[in-house]
This record gives sequence, structure tokens and C-alpha cells, in this order.
Amino acid sequence: MSTVFDINALARENVRKLVPYMSARRLGGRGDIWLNANEYPIAPDFQFTENTLNRYPECQPTTVIQRYADYTTLQPEQILVSRGADESIELLIRVFCEPGQDAVLICPPTYGMYSVSAETFGVEQKKIPVNANWQPDITAIKNNLDRVKLIYICSPNNPTGNLIDPAALRQILELASGRAIVAIDEAYIEFCPQHTTLRWLQDYPHLVILRTLSKAFALAGLRCGFTLASADIIALMQKVIAPYPLPTPVADIAAQALTKTGIETMKKRVAEITRNRAYLQHALSQLAWVEKVFPSETNYILVKFTHAEWVFKTLWQQGIILRDQRQQPGLEHCLRITIGSRNECEQLVRAISVLSNPLQQPKETENP
Ligand SMILES: Cc1ncc(COP(=O)(O)O)c(C=O)c1O
Repeated sequence: MSTVFDINALARENVRKLVPYMSARRLGGRGDIWLNANEYPIAPDFQFTENTLNRYPECQPTTVIQRYADYTTLQPEQILVSRGADESIELLIRVFCEPGQDAVLICPPTYGMYSVSAETFGVEQKKIPVNANWQPDITAIKNNLDRVKLIYICSPNNPTGNLIDPAALRQILELASGRAIVAIDEAYIEFCPQHTTLRWLQDYPHLVILRTLSKAFALAGLRCGFTLASADIIALMQKVIAPYPLPTPVADIAAQALTKTGIETMKKRVAEITRNRAYLQHALSQLAWVEKVFPSETNYILVKFTHAEWVFKTLWQQGIILRDQRQQPGLEHCLRITIGSRNECEQLVRAISVLSNPLQQPKETENP
């Protein structure tokens, strides 16, 4: 007979304490209009062409790497492909941070996985909030670099939607020179491609750029992301990545998405989402309950409401799912809204414009 014991007691202490990343899917909800995960609203059409599922895939599929190299005009040795940019965020910690000794630096409010990955590996986080303009606080960063091995900067930033000032990025790169890696997360860069820091890779050997097919390429379900860096950094990351990180069908579709036609289609999507964004920004700014619509360089907008919780819950009950940002520092009354199809944008505007008095509290909801 086996003894009863507490399995949790066997787990690492930081994992016991860990609050997992609350991804849009984990938060749940039942809806017709999903505007909470910065996805593209329409499924792209791809066919599997590889018929070799009896074989293990290549660790770093040559065609995918070559096509991303062509897309970015980098050398293949400067590119790593992984299970989404999320895997890359974690690989960087595994390569560069000694648990219990080194630290990562992040600038909230920002993307949540930097923090969760550091927590998972027992790596200390130094959180330096952005300033009132949502730009990094350079003086505070400078004063907190002790033991920092990795700095994550998201540009354009999720959830605020703004770009980080290139002068600030350069200052951070200078401060980190010789002591830390600077990872610039460009998950949304296809929505403002002129602002990429790609060309800076030749100047800064400690610069790492994160990319994904989940946003402008409309392939969030594929789980495919890229790390762009010096060949030395990529070689280190290849040491710790799983032996077969990309399933054969993923590599197959990623290669198709990165053909000339695939890239042209992506650009058309970006143009369409940008038009819808302008429509939504204008329409929302006319509505009662909307205090401010923030500018955005991405496929989402941050909106400050007079009664954010009420708007969020009421729309949730109607099957319009937004992303609540009220827990993030400095974003107390804000919701993040993904730019959907024009029809979805119009339905959202209609739903908010007919909302009745916020003082009539909505019914309790199931875990919004
Ligand atoms: C800023 C940022 N970085 C990375 C990711 C993760 O990308 P992927 O789907 O490639 O893991 C996201 C996803 O929302 C994101 O917003």
C-alpha cells in the first residue's frame, strides 16, 4: 500500500509559488467576438505538403530558416526558429541566467511572459516601471543593472501599443554593453516595419530580436517564432533548445507563410488591420464611457474607460471578449482591444454605444 504524501511538497519552491501566465485561452469565456489575444480574425488557408511524419523533423528546418533569412536579409546563422517567441523568451533565460544569482530586468506594464519565465527558473526580476510617457526610465535602469544578465524591452509594447524611443533603446544597449543581453521583442513589428532594430544587429553583439508568425502572419495556432542575433548567441541557444522543437507540419506551413506570396498576403493583412484600427479608434473616441483611446502601432489598442470593469463584464456576457488590463501598473481603467474584422469592430462599437447606465451593476460573471 502506498503512503499518502503531498506531491506539491516535492515541487521546486518557486514553481509552488508560481502564478502561471493567464493566457487568453486560459481565461476562457464564451464568445463570438474574440478580441483578447491579438490574433488575426480570419483563419489563413494552408495545406500540408510534407508526407514524412514517420521521420523526426530537422531541429532547425533549413527552408524555414533560409526564408526568414531572405525576409530579414540576415545570414541563416543569425536565426533560430522556436515554438513561438515565448520559447525564445525562456531559452534566453536558460542560456544567460544562473538561478539564484543573476537577474532579468523588465519595464512594466509589458508582456507577461518575461516575468513568468524568470519566475519559473528561479531568476530574480528587477522591475523598473516605464515613465509617464510609457518610455523606459533610463536612470533607474542604469542604477539597477547589478547582476542583470538579460533586459527585455517590448517595442511596440504590449499592452500599451507604443514604440520605444530608438534613442532610449540605444542608451539601454550602451548601458548593457559587456554585461547583459538586450532582447527587443518585435512581435508586432510587421505593423510598423520601418521601426525595426534589425540593422542594429551589426553594431551590438549583445542585441537579440524576437519575432513571431502569430500576429501579422495570422498563425498564432502554428506556434512558430524566431530569434535574430549574432551567430554566437544563436549557437548558444541551439545548445539548450529541444532536439525537435518544430513539428514537421509546423515547419511545412511556416515555410509556405514565408514565400514571396506569403509575405505579400501578410502585408495586405497589415493594411486591412491598420484601416480597421483607424476606424475603431475614431468610433470609440466618440462614445460615452470612453475616456481615452491611446495611439497604437500594432493590431490592438488600449482604451481607458470611465467604468472599465462594467464595460468589460457587460461585453463578456454578450460574447465580446476583451482583455482586462486594470491590474497592470498605471493602467487602472484600461482594457486592451484586438483589432478584428471590420464587422467585428462595428459590432463592438454598437455594443458599447448602447450600453445603459453603469450604476446598474451587471450580474456576476463566470471568471472574466
Ligand atoms: C509582445 C509579445 N511577445 C511575444 C508573444 C508570444 O508570441 P508567440 O505566439 O510567438 O509565442 C506575444 C503574444 O501575444 C506578445 O504579445
